Amino acid sequence: MQRKHIQSVERSIHQKLKTVTRRDPRSEEKEALLFGWTIVKPSHEDIAGWEADRSGHTISGSERTNRRTIHSNRKMVTQEPSMNVEEAEEIVQGLWDLDVSAWNTHWVPIFRVFSQELVRKAQLHPGQLILDVGTGTGIAAFVAAKRIQRGFVIGIDRSYKMIVAARADVERYQCRNVFFIEMGGDRLLFPDKLFARVISNCGISIGTFPQTVKEISRAIRDDGILVLSDFHLIDVAPHRIFSEILRVYRTDNPSRRLRRRREALATLESIGNRYTDSKEAILQNAGFKRITKQTEVFRITLPSTQDYLRMRFQRAALRQELVELPPVGRRKLLKELRKRLAVHMHRGRFKFEWKVNFIFAAKW
Ligand SMILES: C[S@@+](CC[C@H](N)C(=O)[O-])C[C@H]1O[C@@H](n2cnc3c(N)ncnc32)[C@H](O)[C@@H]1O
Repeated sequence: MQRKHIQSVERSIHQKLKTVTRRDPRSEEKEALLFGWTIVKPSHEDIAGWEADRSGHTISGSERTNRRTIHSNRKMVTQEPSMNVEEAEEIVQGLWDLDVSAWNTHWVPIFRVFSQELVRKAQLHPGQLILDVGTGTGIAAFVAAKRIQRGFVIGIDRSYKMIVAARADVERYQCRNVFFIEMGGDRLLFPDKLFARVISNCGISIGTFPQTVKEISRAIRDDGILVLSDFHLIDVAPHRIFSEILRVYRTDNPSRRLRRRREALATLESIGNRYTDSKEAILQNAGFKRITKQTEVFRITLPSTQDYLRMRFQRAALRQELVELPPVGRRKLLKELRKRLAVHMHRGRFKFEWKVNFIFAAKW
């Protein structure tokens, strides 16, 4: 589909939403009918070899430690933000555009399980109108769409390429009641009090969090519920090992582009770590009540260490780390990673736990 055409479709969606809301703010069924024309033929795809399940183990509050200084036997690297947030956001947003395919192939099978928990916590009902913020390739929107039958889900993302990929998956998930629009959560083009539920599966960047929450508070109904999730790399053992080793073995002479990507990621990670406990306060200031946070532990199983490394190195920023290392350095890095990550191999499978925070907030 041409971009121009998609934009005109989006305009008509906005127009329809405005009309429907003006007529009767509770006419969710009518909304579903109005948008029912996103009809597609079914197809299936098997994501082989991946498994993830929720352990059922719930940790209350945050167990995360604020660890920004990493000691290693070769170097000590202190990660202090060296870039302003707006610049970091722009660079990281550009990375999302480059990571669509890697995200869909390697991360979505895991994030699907997080989405299922997110949707469960959001207490969806048939017929509701749902907004999924930072939908990426749409997994949480698809999971929600299956639950609400005659209802309707709108997935929004700042990355146009993510939106294109999400639209392409509508067929695979056989969903008629989901629509994807390129839009920032910090500037919602929807009328006030429209959505019954708002969900976000790790889909609100830290730099846009306060403004996005304000916008959600405006666009959600008085009886609405918001549920969002997030996680920190340092809370997931192999991600922590990976970061520590990479910092030791990566090139000391990065290109300007790689240096800026490193700075941008470090800046947002560092802000994210500091923000952890203030997210609830931001939600409260935006008018949300009954705010609770739960940390769930998911057990992830991948076929091998190699699959874990592929999942990480196929993301643009990390791929470039490999590209900019000389062959000897690359071999050393990979060898060290395989050695240190071997602790996660159990009975021939790569197993680890992934902690995800879920925040529940209501407007009532
Ligand atoms: C970690 S991915 C999560 C994708 C998806 N929710 C999933 O479960 O697969 C983060 C996505 O959020 C998007 N994003 C981040 N902040 C956003 C915002 N304020 N508004 C819209 N999209 C945002 C990014 O473009 C990216 O596609």
